[in-house]
Amino acid sequence: MDSPNSALVLLTSFFLLAAPLFNGPNSTQAQQLLPIVKTNFTQVFIVHLQSPNKSPGLLNSEELNEWYLSYLPNTTLDSGEPRMIHTYDYVITGFAARLTAEEAASLESMDGFVFAYPEKIQPLHTTYTPEFLGLNQFNGLWEHSSQGEGVIVAVLDTGILPNHPSFADTLKLPQPPLKWRGRCDIPADSGSCNNKLVGAQHFIVPDFFLTPLDDSGHGTHVAGIAVGSPVYNVNLSGLARGTASGMAPSAHLAVYKVCRKNGCPDSFSLKGIEKSIQDGVDIIQISNGAPDEFHSSGNIKGSFRALQKGILTICSAQNQGPTPSLISNDAPWILTVGAASTGRRNTAVLKLGNGMVFNGESSNQPDPSGNIVDVPLVYPGVIRTNEKLSCQNGSMAGLNVTGKIVLCGRGFTDPVEKSKVVKEAGGAGIIVVNQVWDGDTLWSYSFVIPGIHVTNKDALKIIDYFTVEKNPTASITFKGTEFGVRPSPSIATFSSRGPSLYNGGILKPDVVAPGVDILSAWPFTPEDSSVKSDDAFNFESGTSMAAPHVSGIAALLKKVHPDWTPAMIKSALMTTAYTEDRDKNRITDDGSNSRAPANAFAIGVGHVNPSAAEDPGLVYDTKVEDYIPYLCGLRGMTPVKMIMITNGAGTCSNKKKMPAEELNYPSIQVSMRSGGKNKTVPRTVTNVGIAKSIYSVTVVEPKGVTVDVNPKKLEFASIGEEKKFTVEINLTGSWPAKEVWEGKLVWVSGKYQVTSPIVIID
Ligand SMILES: *[C@@H]1O[C@H](CO)[C@@H](O)[C@H](O)[C@H]1NC(C)=O
Ligand SMILES: *[C@@H]1O[C@H](CO)[C@@H](O)[C@H](O)[C@H]1NC(C)=O
Ligand SMILES: *[C@@H]1O[C@H](CO)[C@@H](O)[C@H](O)[C@H]1NC(C)=O
Ligand SMILES: *[C@@H]1O[C@H](CO)[C@@H](O)[C@H](O)[C@H]1NC(C)=O
Ligand SMILES: *[C@@H]1O[C@H](CO)[C@@H](O)[C@H](O)[C@H]1NC(C)=O
Ligand SMILES: *[C@@H]1O[C@H](CO)[C@@H](O)[C@H](O)[C@H]1NC(C)=O
Ligand SMILES: *[C@@H]1O[C@H](CO)[C@@H](O)[C@H](O)[C@H]1NC(C)=O
Repeated sequence: MDSPNSALVLLTSFFLLAAPLFNGPNSTQAQQLLPIVKTNFTQVFIVHLQSPNKSPGLLNSEELNEWYLSYLPNTTLDSGEPRMIHTYDYVITGFAARLTAEEAASLESMDGFVFAYPEKIQPLHTTYTPEFLGLNQFNGLWEHSSQGEGVIVAVLDTGILPNHPSFADTLKLPQPPLKWRGRCDIPADSGSCNNKLVGAQHFIVPDFFLTPLDDSGHGTHVAGIAVGSPVYNVNLSGLARGTASGMAPSAHLAVYKVCRKNGCPDSFSLKGIEKSIQDGVDIIQISNGAPDEFHSSGNIKGSFRALQKGILTICSAQNQGPTPSLISNDAPWILTVGAASTGRRNTAVLKLGNGMVFNGESSNQPDPSGNIVDVPLVYPGVIRTNEKLSCQNGSMAGLNVTGKIVLCGRGFTDPVEKSKVVKEAGGAGIIVVNQVWDGDTLWSYSFVIPGIHVTNKDALKIIDYFTVEKNPTASITFKGTEFGVRPSPSIATFSSRGPSLYNGGILKPDVVAPGVDILSAWPFTPEDSSVKSDDAFNFESGTSMAAPHVSGIAALLKKVHPDWTPAMIKSALMTTAYTEDRDKNRITDDGSNSRAPANAFAIGVGHVNPSAAEDPGLVYDTKVEDYIPYLCGLRGMTPVKMIMITNGAGTCSNKKKMPAEELNYPSIQVSMRSGGKNKTVPRTVTNVGIAKSIYSVTVVEPKGVTVDVNPKKLEFASIGEEKKFTVEINLTGSWPAKEVWEGKLVWVSGKYQVTSPIVIID
């Protein structure tokens, strides 16, 4: 019986072959700092300058532009294209322009120059969910918040399909508030804005976006999740029937097109954030990014300015899991969101000739006559090339797949493409099997023939059967949409994991939210992304889909608590998150391949719980001014980086450095690598619950440490009152080399449980 091993070898070797295609952290870090290699090619550089505020009298925008232009060798390239791409007068002092590396390097000698770096293109992180999250029309947060009415959510993404029913003014919304100053750039023949879609802007740069229309689908899908109007009787080929609705269906939508299909240039993200702040939005939603130092990330610099204006930015964590530490948008002022599965599955069933049965998924479920029964199984992957293993076009040559079910590994090509390849070769069905790094997360694909997507665990058994059986056969049947599937929720394998490499030791992601097989608005037919549609819906998975759930919920909280700071909204969402699945077990990690409990670097503080977040009792309100000593305390911080991150607002000279663990954050992560055998971290809570109340502390100690909280009781007399306490952590043995120890601290008073995880790392 060596066959199980050989099957394992096949799938493992695939991993090794595929590995170079996946972006490691190094590929994104290579190019960011001066000195720049001299070339004669122009690329877009982001140029930071010293703030002109010191000179007598502020510059008006014309003077500012002239001042910026004075840094360029001339206004156009030889090709006639303008050099200047964007000028900024709010998020940073500086501009983005086309320069050669040599020209950029020569800026260094000019007065007022701070730093220049070539911009990066940030990758995109690609309705039933309101119900799953406990949002109900007739009680709770949806009712109290009027579903977010009057709140403006900015979505910075690939644009919008304006005439989709998800962005119609179905709920007859009021006009946007008077503070709204945004524009609508939608061409007349493509629809228009209304009281739902209040703005749609793009930034005119030749050869870039000519309109704010969505040419990829990503932005439309994300906007629909956050604030889509209700659309009744939605289904995808009869599946997932019901009303599709965004999390904040009455909130206003302001679209900023800053991304193309292949990603989001940082100079555009900065411009989009600048414009949205100036336009008067309340919440900023971003689903793109890559791991990066704070000073060279547009999202992180821009969101710091948004924070100073009282605007919370919610970002996706990225889809680089389960590899640790490939997490983006990890600054403490951002709410960073990972992805979890929901309890809804479009179930397909695979039965092998030996009677073994496996549940998987497919969103193309032909009626019973589409079932395929007892047909031969083919596995092109026995010939160990990437092309054969992953059923790429051309790989069926020399194989007789006519009328058979073909086994294909996930990876390299889109699974729907694989099903097209199998169909063209005459195949009757397809089984797409997860590779070891895909774990247990299943996606509902629109295969063009009867098909099923199965986990890596099941894949090993299926390939084992194929290997030992002379005449292997299989059947595929369909069960339609199932609810309450177990275990759920679970952490999606692809969801990016901490620990963050750049934020000094703040636990990230913050929370997880639904991000697997999310049905939302889509500008194309689900089967074919070259065929436009005005009213389609499609399933998509990614942290890109998780973040807008939280953005919509944050809009609801903003409506109920207009006086809350961004940090208070964030704290409410974090301290009320839950960590148990529907069977009351710790939420498990799809990426473990063994249903292992999700650790803090996968789940953050837990899964968002909107109804509980409405009334959290206490909040951890991180003060904006505390971020300056926090930034000064980061390893490798320099005066130039400080100017770039804070736009000159903070310098480190007279400020004390604050270790990241002392920032008043709703989660507690402590490194025991340095600083001896004990640590004491301070925290401050603000009463937002019941005026006269007494909270007492409950601690679950992480293994290997003792935890002492002082004081153990907090007595409040009024709303808004603050109380300080300290958490003393003593190591009982040696350092937790390479291990992560987790416990929690809970302030309890009546119905309130204000929970913070305590995470001890090396
Ligand atoms: C730019 O560099 C390329 C490659 O090094 C070279 O072939 C080309 O002649 C250079 N062009 C100019 C204008 O120097
Ligand atoms: C602009 O400046 C560059 C470099 O200084 C030069 O090669 C080019 O000819 C100039 N173009 C125009 C239109 O002046
Ligand atoms: C699914 O939606 C289509 C319109 O998109 C509709 O014609 C059809 O009746 C719906 N099917 C079900 C089963 O609800
Ligand atoms: C392919 O296999 C099918 C069924 O096993 C068989 O009927 C057919 O003749 C084969 N075709 C070729 C070209 O061998
Ligand atoms: C596969 O390649 C052939 C030849 O280039 C092409 O005609 C066919 O459309 C391709 N099939 C798919 C599914 O891409
Ligand atoms: C805790 O650490 C502080 C500062 O390093 C030190 O003064 C104190 O003695 C330590 N206490 C214990 C019990 O290790
Ligand atoms: C940590 O050690 C100090 C010094 O021995 C002691 O006073 C304190 O109670 C200890 N705290 C905990 C939580 O064990």
